[in-house]
Amino acid sequence: MGSARSKYGTSSYRRAYAFAAPIYDLLHILAFALHGGRRKVWTKAIRSVPYGEGETILDACCGTGYLAKLLLDRVKPDAQIVGIDLSPSQIRVAEKRVGASNVRFLTGDVRDIPFEDDHFEKSFISFALHEMPADVRRAVLLDVVRVTKRDGAIVILEGNRPSRRSDRFLMYVTFFQWWPWCVDHPHSQEVWRTDYVSELTNCGMTIVTREEFARGFFQLIVARPAVPSGAPKGGPTTCAGRSSSS
Ligand SMILES: C[S@@+](CC[C@H](N)C(=O)[O-])C[C@H]1O[C@@H](n2cnc3c(N)ncnc32)[C@H](O)[C@@H]1O
Repeated sequence: MGSARSKYGTSSYRRAYAFAAPIYDLLHILAFALHGGRRKVWTKAIRSVPYGEGETILDACCGTGYLAKLLLDRVKPDAQIVGIDLSPSQIRVAEKRVGASNVRFLTGDVRDIPFEDDHFEKSFISFALHEMPADVRRAVLLDVVRVTKRDGAIVILEGNRPSRRSDRFLMYVTFFQWWPWCVDHPHSQEVWRTDYVSELTNCGMTIVTREEFARGFFQLIVARPAVPSGAPKGGPTTCAGRSSSS
């Protein structure tokens, strides 16, 4: 991270999302055009797990609701989807976009998800961890583990470090939040240094699959809560941080 200061959670961070929300989707369309389009990337995450009847699904850090909208086409009709995001401006765009009775959007902090333990069959976190400092990432991951059922799945879509130097340059140029004045700076650069597998494991997850794709620009991780049978989630065998409230 060097000496650069984190903007995470500051008023400039909140103002940035208030400003970006109306143009966020356009920026994403441009940023993902090089990789076959945004739909292709998000659909890969959605297709990585099967869906059963009557499932509840969390979209943690849901942004403008793009994942929730795509999920609607894939899940069973009786599924309940909940999107949570810190930014009221992002949530307003999400509500306008989706407008389905089985999808709810809440303004809130995913470090403190307003649901009981073991509530969701599936939890998604797409392209959000890279903008958080390590302590926030950890708190977010612990709470996502807490609310995800033991036999459920946690799906994480995130940036990755391409192996080719020319691709690393391309990533730097196209994902402009890498520039110092952007809201994700300096954490977006930690994508190249962060071993998400270790972080997830340390927060009580077992990795089911991990795949790098789009020439290594992105990674898709499917995990599940790693809980020995009979042990409470978040206990000392799984996490060293905040423990489960059950
Ligand atoms: C880069 S956007 C990704 C949004 C969306 N998941 C997507 O794939 O388009 C990151 C989002 O995470 C949200 N966010 C960051 N920290 C959060 C937290 N602690 N709790 C809830 N949302 C958070 C931001 O407000 C922002 O909308």
